Parts: sequence; structure tokens; C-alpha cells
Amino acid sequence: MYAYSRAALREAVRRVREASVPGADVYYSLKANPHPGVVNALAPLVDGFDVCSLSELETALNTGVPPEKVLFTGPAKTRPEAAAALAAGVAVTVESPGQARLFADVARELGVEGRAVVRVNTPYPGRTSGAATPNQFGVAGEDLTEVFGVLRPSALSVSGLQLFWGSQYSAADVILAARSAALERARTLADRFGLKLDFVSVGGGIAMPWCTADPEVDWEGLRAAGPATTPAAEQGAPTVVCEYGRSIVGPAGILLTTVLDTKNVDGRRYVLVDAGLNHVMIASRLIAGAGRGEPLVRAVDAKDPGTMSPAQVTGPLCSQLDLLAENVQLPALETGDTLMFLGVGAYGPTFSPAGFLSRDKAREIIF
Ligand SMILES: Cc1ncc(COP(=O)(O)O)c(C=O)c1O
Repeated sequence: MYAYSRAALREAVRRVREASVPGADVYYSLKANPHPGVVNALAPLVDGFDVCSLSELETALNTGVPPEKVLFTGPAKTRPEAAAALAAGVAVTVESPGQARLFADVARELGVEGRAVVRVNTPYPGRTSGAATPNQFGVAGEDLTEVFGVLRPSALSVSGLQLFWGSQYSAADVILAARSAALERARTLADRFGLKLDFVSVGGGIAMPWCTADPEVDWEGLRAAGPATTPAAEQGAPTVVCEYGRSIVGPAGILLTTVLDTKNVDGRRYVLVDAGLNHVMIASRLIAGAGRGEPLVRAVDAKDPGTMSPAQVTGPLCSQLDLLAENVQLPALETGDTLMFLGVGAYGPTFSPAGFLSRDKAREIIF
């Protein structure tokens, strides 16, 4: 069972707000955790939502948030998604000339006006320093003229630019540089194409540490640098939006799992639990492990918490990948005991291959 804390969500939103461009709107990206309890708890705390599917759109709008505060993102939207988003009155990101034509066609067929946010392809910076990596998202620099050419005569107004530059960054200097570069590029593009923008989304990118070797986020560096590195907003300047998923919900969630069995094989101690990579892929060897340490796992109410020894925590699946923590220190455990994975509130059930072996889904509650 996943359990998400309302108090921790409140605290996380406060923290990312302080670490954002001063005065920026904070949007929550439902892809990190679309549980309606979580999204409803966040609705009064954040300024808007970023959604990526019809289901996420429904969850966001069901909170009562105005459509103007919802952004439908994603590199390749379907015609039904385009129609639903435009009919609902939410802004849509446009990420290629082909997608610009799709939205222009759908707006004409529906007879609605719509708001387009042009996502501009932005390389992702190295995590601490070093070379940026290419990605498939957004409109390539050489296609921008064509995209604005399609949108200008259409029923869609260009209300914003989105320059998202990646995820899971901890170093303040990298985050601040990416953000400033995004703001600067948005200004240059607005001048070049004569755009009157309502908002500019400059990414979020802040990490959630959930493994022992994940670096801590430099919250203090971000908070302290914010006002100094951001010019005061001019009258009529576009609203700056920062989009966050994992840094808001990651720290607010734990996964509770029951010990089903224990055994020793070849001198290694195994603790077999009822959560598998089908519930928590981020703890499995597909993501955790080499280089980033082990997930943060603790025993709940251990009978003898003083005697710790190394253990492998494995799930119930017939796969070697279903190793959730390797050589972690745990007390003596027996069938029926409970383990707790910490900081796993983001990219949990919906990021895991829930269909594998057709086992039951994890429960999710908010408290
Ligand atoms: C456009 C966009 N916004 C927001 C996010 C959320 O990112 P994170 O969970 O790293 O904060 C993502 C992640 O893929 C994204 O692509």
C-alpha cells in the first residue's frame, strides 16, 4: 500500500515555491502521481496542472481548477486528445509542424478558438556539469518559422512558450543556469517572432532523492539565489511557470509492504515481500542499484531493532529484476512483518508494469 501525506505535500509545495523563480506560478505535473486524492489535495496549493492524457485531464478538471490553469503537454497527441483539450478550453503544447497542423485542423473542425503553447526543443544539461544531451521533445529550432506560420492564420493563439530542460537535477548552479537560459531564449524568440505571451514555462527539474547515493537537492542554494538571479518582472511581462512532479510528490509518499517469507541462499539473506517491481519499478534493478545506491527501506516496529545484518529485499515476481534493495541493513524479520520504502510518492504505481504476472495492484491512500 502506498500512503501519501497531505502535510508532506504542503511542505513540498512550500519548498519548491521558495526554490522557484520568485513570483512564478507553480504547476504540478500529474504524470508523477495522478491519484485523485493527491491531485485534489494539491489543487488549493499549486497554481495549475500539467496533464498528458485524457484521464489526467479529467482528474485535473474534476478538482475544479479553471481550464486556463491547465496545460496539456506531450510530444505526440492524438486527434481525440486534441479535440478534447480544445473543447475543454485548456492550453495545448505544440511540438512539431505536424502537430501544429493537427491542432489547427481540429480547432477549425470544432469551431473553437484555442491556446497553443509552443514547446521549444531544449537540450538537457549534464546532471552536475558537462555536455547537454539531445532529446525528441519540442519544436526543432529550424522548424519554428513553419510552426508559427501554421498557427498564425489558425484559430489558435500562441499564448506561451515552454522550454522544459529535464528532470532529477540537484545542483543549484545547473538548475539556475538552465532556468536563466530558458527565460533568455523565450525573450529572444518572442522578439524574433513578434509574440505577445501570457506565460513562459521554464521547466522545473528539481530531483527527488530516494536512493542512498542520490545527492541531496541544494534547496538553500536555490532559495538564496532566486531573487538575485532574476530580473524584476516588467509591467505586462509573461507569467513565469515552473513545472514540478517528483519534487512535490516524491517525498510525500511511502510504500508499505508485508514480509511473505525469509530464507538464506548461498549465504545471502533474502526477505521476500508482497510488493514487486510491478508496484514500484523505481526500486527495482531497472532503475535503482548501480551508481545510485539502494532505496531507503526500513522495518516497521521491528521486534529486535538493535541487531542489523545485510539483506536482499525481493518481490514475489519470477524475475531477477525483482530485487528491490540489495545488501541493506535490516533487523531480524519474519513472515507478517512490515517494511517501508521512503520517498517513493512519485512515479510509483502508474510508472510500474502493473500487468506483469497479472497480480493485484497496490492500494493507495492519502492521510
Ligand atoms: C513537460 C514536463 N513537465 C514536467 C515534468 C515533470 O518532471 P519532474 O517529475 O522531474 O518534476 C516532465 C517530466 O517528464 C515533463 O516532461
